[in-house]
Amino acid sequence: MPTSAVVRKAVVPAAGLGTRFLPATKAIPKEMLPVVDKPAIQYVVEEAVAAGLDDILLVTGRGKRAIEDHFDRARELEEVLAAKGDTAGVDLVRRSAELAAVHYTRQGIPKGLGHAVLCAARHVGNEPFAVLLGDDFIHPGDPLLRRMLDVRAQLGGSVVALMEVGIDQVSLYGCAAIEPADADDVVTVTDLVEKPAPRDAPSNQVVIGRYVCDPAVFGVLRRTPPGRGGEIQLTDALKTLAGMDPAEGGGVHGVLFRGRRFDTGNRVDYLRTIVQFACERPDMAEEFVSWLRKYLDDLG
Ligand code: G1P
Repeated sequence: MPTSAVVRKAVVPAAGLGTRFLPATKAIPKEMLPVVDKPAIQYVVEEAVAAGLDDILLVTGRGKRAIEDHFDRARELEEVLAAKGDTAGVDLVRRSAELAAVHYTRQGIPKGLGHAVLCAARHVGNEPFAVLLGDDFIHPGDPLLRRMLDVRAQLGGSVVALMEVGIDQVSLYGCAAIEPADADDVVTVTDLVEKPAPRDAPSNQVVIGRYVCDPAVFGVLRRTPPGRGGEIQLTDALKTLAGMDPAEGGGVHGVLFRGRRFDTGNRVDYLRTIVQFACERPDMAEEFVSWLRKYLDDLG
């Protein structure tokens, strides 16, 4: 049965071990690494909230309790700040606890992104929902998810975010075969391949970590065998949905994203994200940019 319900829920997989950031991530979740002074995961939750989603399910695992503490009230800390008259500090500490209704489920065994999404089935139920991957950082000034939700409301089915990359980069991503659709920034997805070699890539349009899924994805994921890397791939389930009848929740569209995206799962891009965000922060841009200019001049 197709479902026309509005999207209210977002699923954020956060069970990864963060091995690319060791030793920083030995005792803290990689999602808690700061971009300037805010944990990466808070930006992702804020992005979902800004798109109108106020029910967030984080799919976590062992060693991720700091995330739960972050989205909870911290009464002692608030009291200490309040006693010092630091109301701005109190607001900052409270903000993450009051952003949205944040829920948790555990993945248990990491069997891939598709498996993480399947862990959300009970919480999501028979409603369309968004999936946001924490390693893909979308600049808050370039509202991609809102556009994807509009496309879902208009066309039904599922929606992926696509971005053009160099052909040498396709093997890092899910890659889409596309056909034009009515709007200039929307395409019909006819096929998807997870991390293809450049010669096998159907195009250089790749999936960046934002999805709006029809709940039919759960039934498909249950039938999807392990794919690339021996893991259950969301890409494989979406490929199946792309070939299914819209009356059964099938059909996949792509929104072509031309905004700013960063990969905070990679150390150099993580640093780029921090530098760019610091340069845009009204409270520190002046001091930081003038230091950065001088530093680069000195480097020659
Ligand atoms: C995942 C998906 C891939 C997608 C990518 C976006 O891969 O499996 O299809 O293109 O996220 O960042 P991962 O980077 O988790 O290996």
